[in-house]
Amino acid sequence: MDVENSRTAALVEEIRELKKKRGAAILAHYYTLGEIQDLADVTGDSLALARKAQTLDNPVIVVCGVHFMGETAKILCPDKTVLVPDETAGCSLADSCPAEEFEEFIKAHPGHTVVSYVNTSAAVKALTDVVVTSSNARQIVDALPKDEKIIFGPDRNLGSYISSVTGRGMVIWDGACHVHEQFSLEKLLELKKEHPRAEVLAHPECKKPVVLVADVVGSTAALLKHAIESPCREFIVATESGILHKMRQACPDKHFIPAPPEEAGCACNNCSYMKLNTLEKLRDCLRDMKPQIEVDPETAARAVKPIERMLEMSARLGL
Ligand code: 13P
Ligand code: SF4
Repeated sequence: MDVENSRTAALVEEIRELKKKRGAAILAHYYTLGEIQDLADVTGDSLALARKAQTLDNPVIVVCGVHFMGETAKILCPDKTVLVPDETAGCSLADSCPAEEFEEFIKAHPGHTVVSYVNTSAAVKALTDVVVTSSNARQIVDALPKDEKIIFGPDRNLGSYISSVTGRGMVIWDGACHVHEQFSLEKLLELKKEHPRAEVLAHPECKKPVVLVADVVGSTAALLKHAIESPCREFIVATESGILHKMRQACPDKHFIPAPPEEAGCACNNCSYMKLNTLEKLRDCLRDMKPQIEVDPETAARAVKPIERMLEMSARLGL
């Protein structure tokens, strides 16, 4: 075993022991590093992680993802200790929607039902009627009474995609994710020419031209499921690069090509926030029992309602 591998093996062993000692469960998003996904108890998309947090018996949950995912777990499980390996792991999309400005936006559009993507702060969720993730946004918006006027925030690309597939007019907040907005249509089309049999898989946070040329548009979990079930052998993947780890593990005989970003040679399809979750920091947070996620109880009491509404609607809709 080389030095790097033995260092990783020793860290993994330390994490496993600390996890047992703390009675902790590790939840990891598909965008985290492969080595984190491999030792997590659960790896999933935002919806799966929120659901799992709610059903776990463990007194301690470590959320390897970004801050809003830790907040969601804490809001759903206020009596548990929720740890994150790096509390500075934010989200450009959540940051594009400050709660005070969103409140003004809501006031400017009275009589609207507020639908917010899970990629938001607890304070924004507290202003929301129903939270959605990319796994259930379409069906939840579709299930709202047809005469309800809708505000959708914060992702303009997801909002415009949901509006087009549901036929619902919506007032959409002008926010975006810096990773998903990077994919270049031009380069994607060139890549498609080189791989004419490849299917293009895109997350709905990508810009409209990319979504329009995609064969499948869906959440990370939906794209993974499609890759497993499709008879196709080649895929161009327009979402954060971490999902390729799971896709390659699940389908070792298939070929996955990351969609190219605008800027040649940049690693823009890596979410720098997700990649702040390292094995060292995971070990440290379990050892030191910090950083812990705390949500102000008054905000949490309001934010839990739209999250629970989402979970109830998802279950009712068979998602
Ligand atoms: P999922 O809903 O697919 O987990 O996406 C979350 C996310 O952060 C996308 O950028
Ligand atoms: Fe946020 Fe984008 Fe990173 Fe997802 S990929 S966590 S939306 S910054």
